[in-house]
Parts: sequence; structure tokens; C-alpha cells
Amino acid sequence: MAEFTLVKKHTSDLSYEDIRAIETLMIGVYEGNFTLTDLDHALGGIHVLMYGNKQLVGHVSVVQRNMTVLDVPYRVGYVEALGVKKEYRKKGMGHQLMKTCKHIIKESYHFGVLSTPTNLHYFFQRLNWQPWLGQLSTYTPTGLQEFKDENQTVFIYSPNLSLDLAKPLISDFRGEKSW
Ligand SMILES: CC(C)(COP(=O)(O)OP(=O)(O)OC[C@H]1O[C@@H](n2cnc3c(N)ncnc32)[C@H](O)[C@@H]1OP(=O)(O)O)[C@@H](O)C(=O)NCCC(=O)NCCS
Repeated sequence: MAEFTLVKKHTSDLSYEDIRAIETLMIGVYEGNFTLTDLDHALGGIHVLMYGNKQLVGHVSVVQRNMTVLDVPYRVGYVEALGVKKEYRKKGMGHQLMKTCKHIIKESYHFGVLSTPTNLHYFFQRLNWQPWLGQLSTYTPTGLQEFKDENQTVFIYSPNLSLDLAKPLISDFRGEKSW
């Protein structure tokens, strides 16, 4: 029977091969729809890596971003590159990866944020993430840009702070794909 190990590492502790393994896993998980920008957005924070038979079978990372609710700036743990290899799904690994993310967020950030496709709402709601209801925008070099995408929902996990989810939430600028 396969043994699974969960490892937590900062990007600075990953080897070149570790980063290539994350990229390969994500390209498989997202069926080719995972770009270098997506990889770049997943770096510079803490990675949670799940290994089975010495092979990377699951990953998620939490990277720091700055976001504003009304006029208050917050240190946010943004969840990136969550995925479990197809043949290992429905065994609780996604929940385990997200449980570790929640611990990282609770202990290091004001709150956590992620953007997810519609079909995964139930998965995140079961894990106590809540959809942000207010307007979403980004500070860009040319001013505030509203974020509107019917296929994506932004969720937050805020165990330390009580936030009004109906207020506007504004993200920092990442060029492409700020949310
Ligand atoms: C989303 C994703 C990470 C979930 O990973 P997973 O390992 O299948 O997650 P889990 O096994 O913890 O949970 C999945 C479901 O299986 C159920 N499950 C958990 N253990 C189970 C078991 N032993 N047997 C059957 N079902 C089980 C869970 O209850 C959960 O159901 P729920 O959605 O009703 O809560 C995975 O489907 C994936 O990689 N998807 C593609 C990439 C993606 O969409 N990433 C997220 C972008 S935000």
C-alpha cells in the first residue's frame, strides 16, 4: 500500500527539480491549462507537498499578497496551484492540503483568499471558506480595475477577523490574472 507524506517548504528550500515536479503535476492536473504565469504566481511563499511512493501527487501554495477592504490594508495568504493527481483524488488529500493551508493562514496572515471555478464551491464551503459578496477590483498602474468573471468565485477564510463580505475587496496588481 502506498504511503503518503506531507511536507511544508518555503520556495527558497525547493530545488530546481522540485519546481519542475510542481509544474509537471499542475500541467497534468489542469489538463494543460497551467502557464508559466500560473507557476510564477505560486512561488515566493509556502508550499504544501504531498508525496506518494516518492512521487509528487499533490500540491498547494500560500503566497503573501496585499489586499484592501474599504480603506484598510491587510496581509493576505493567497492560495495558488491546488491540485491532486487524478488517480489519487477522493482519498482526502485535497482536504489535508487545505487543512495545512488553513493553519498557515491562521498563524501568519490577516485572512486567506482564493479564486476557484464554480464547480468547486461545495468543496471549499465544506472547509469553512466563504464567498466574497462585494465588488472585487485590483489596483493597476492606470487605476482601479473591476474583476468580473462568471466562472470564478473568490472565497475567503478568516478565522482571526470578522469581515463584512459585502464590502469592496481590492487586490494588489500582478499583471495578468490578479485574481
Ligand atoms: C479539488 C481537488 C484538489 C480535490 O482533491 P481531492 O484529493 O479529490 O480532495 P478530497 O479527497 O479531500 O475531497 C474531495 C471529495 O472527496 C470526498 N472524499 C474524501 N475522502 C474520500 C474517500 N476516501 N472516498 C471517497 N470520497 C472521499 C470528500 O468528502 C470530498 O467531497 P466533497 O467535495 O463533497 O467535500 C482535486 O479535485 C483537483 O486537483 N482538481 C483539479 C484542480 C483544481 O480544480 N484545483 C482547485 C482550483 S481552486
